[in-house]
Amino acid sequence: MALVKLNLSDFRNIKNASIQPAAGINIILGENGSGKSSVLEAIHYLGLGRSFRTHLTSRVVQHGEKDFTLFSQCQQFLNDEQITTIGLKKSKNSDTELKIAGQKAERLAELPGILPLQLIHPESFTLLSSGPKLRRQFVDWGVFHVEPEFFATWAKLTRLLKQRNAILKSGKRYAELAYWDKEFAVQGTIIAQMRRRYLEQLNPIIKSALADFLPEYDFDIRYHPGWDSDIELTELLKQNFMRDQQLGYTSLGPQKADIRIRANGVPAHDILSRGQLKLAVCAMRLSQGLFLSQHSNKRCTFLIDDFSSELDVSKRKLLAQYLIESKAQVFVTAIEKSQVAALLTESCKMFHVEHGKLTEF
Ligand SMILES: Nc1ncnc2c1ncn2[C@@H]1O[C@H](COP(=O)(O)OP(=O)(O)OP(=O)(O)O)[C@@H](O)[C@H]1O
Ligand SMILES: [Mg+2]
Repeated sequence: MALVKLNLSDFRNIKNASIQPAAGINIILGENGSGKSSVLEAIHYLGLGRSFRTHLTSRVVQHGEKDFTLFSQCQQFLNDEQITTIGLKKSKNSDTELKIAGQKAERLAELPGILPLQLIHPESFTLLSSGPKLRRQFVDWGVFHVEPEFFATWAKLTRLLKQRNAILKSGKRYAELAYWDKEFAVQGTIIAQMRRRYLEQLNPIIKSALADFLPEYDFDIRYHPGWDSDIELTELLKQNFMRDQQLGYTSLGPQKADIRIRANGVPAHDILSRGQLKLAVCAMRLSQGLFLSQHSNKRCTFLIDDFSSELDVSKRKLLAQYLIESKAQVFVTAIEKSQVAALLTESCKMFHVEHGKLTEF
């Protein structure tokens, strides 16, 4: 989906704004503190129901106001007649009202299916440098969009894991766990297979993008399902029972999965510079967007905060070329127009933010 209309009210320093973004490249320019990242944050709320900067809605609601409201019209394809609307109102105490196509929706989890998003911001290198959680989320984003059973299976697995960990902490005998472990292993193995299937198809796309962005390195991407998959998960859970009981949590299983990315045989984050890490993350996220458009009728919207940071002119050009050719909807922020020169196309739209006032150029 692409956003064709976006309205914001009482969101950060933006009192009221309404824009009609382009189906392709959208550039948001403004000085420090003007409200550029806030616009991306608002779109992030519409795609995921949450901010990428804070867990607290009270920080996002405009000072002195009780709630913020966002409204958008989304279109599946260019020239498509069918418009889906999303309305989201969140109050300081986190009360949420969500309407999709005019109907009250119960769960924010419905949003990612409508507006798939990929966010790249100055801290995005943590995808490679931090623990496996972000990389699991990265993989699951893609699996969620292409495997219809993923969400329900993952929800079941999460419930089972909670139950298992509670039993481990209660100090009961293994016999009490055996039943749960059987089911946990069934669901866990399904999740691991879905992830493997997805990554087998995605990895060549990522490797090709990495070769374009960072030809000086030889990359290797490996999936680790979270346990030695040559052995049945039920068997391993049984063998590890005593250890898990001491730890108070389940130490093996799909909740421990990871993808490890090495450059020239070394963990990527140990050898790449910050700019190179940003490019590697861009390669990974752009590849997911590309894969999504090739394997579903969905389109991914890219949010790129501070487009030019860490990148020299030639790398900005390379990234811009990828974004333009992807035909995806893209929102980038920058302080000056010269920083996004490579993104300027005939069909791009430019917006200016000044003290929270958002206008089209
Ligand atoms: N709840 C709020 N109510 C009103 N103003 C807010 C609120 N939260 C943050 N602000 C202000 O909103 C402004 C916009 O912040 P934002 O991060 O969007 O700026 P930016 O244009 O991305 O700046 P930079 O170029 O430095 O990244 C900041 O000056 C901040 O003080
Ligand atoms: Mg910013």
